[in-house]
Amino acid sequence: MTVFQIRAYGDPVLRQVTKQVDLFDEGLAKLAQDMLETMHEAEGVGLAANQIGVDRAIFVYDAGDGPVVMVNPRIIETSGEWSYEEGCLSVPGLHWPIVRPNRVHAKGHDLSGAEIEVWGEELEGRVLQHEMDHLNGRLLLEHLDPVQRREAMAALGARTLEKP
Ligand code: NI
Repeated sequence: MTVFQIRAYGDPVLRQVTKQVDLFDEGLAKLAQDMLETMHEAEGVGLAANQIGVDRAIFVYDAGDGPVVMVNPRIIETSGEWSYEEGCLSVPGLHWPIVRPNRVHAKGHDLSGAEIEVWGEELEGRVLQHEMDHLNGRLLLEHLDPVQRREAMAALGARTLEKP
């Protein structure tokens, strides 16, 4: 298995809407394994393919009930509201309380191409929405209020100056 470098804020691949997967082959299974390994190594709870530079609609997560792989995922319905201190492996070291829907019903495919369905709430619901955002080229920064956003830009600006 391969541990990949996780792409950080500023990398254009994080702004791409990822391409749908149409080939459920060994290459896809290997990608999922490598993504899980990379996520565990980084001590994250979720990882989307474009975070390792791969333009494919697949994410992995483990919200405490074991690893889940979702290919070509889509969110069917959300409900409720929950505030959670949310961070992102591509925006390391920063986190903010962000309000999002609490419960999420999502559909997608497993590595064999079979349709799967998940109902997540609290952490699992949060991860599903966060990773779905990644596959649509969106980062958690877009969910910040104006004050949080100013703080984020200041912190990210400082980091950019440290590592040009
Ligand atoms: Ni993230």
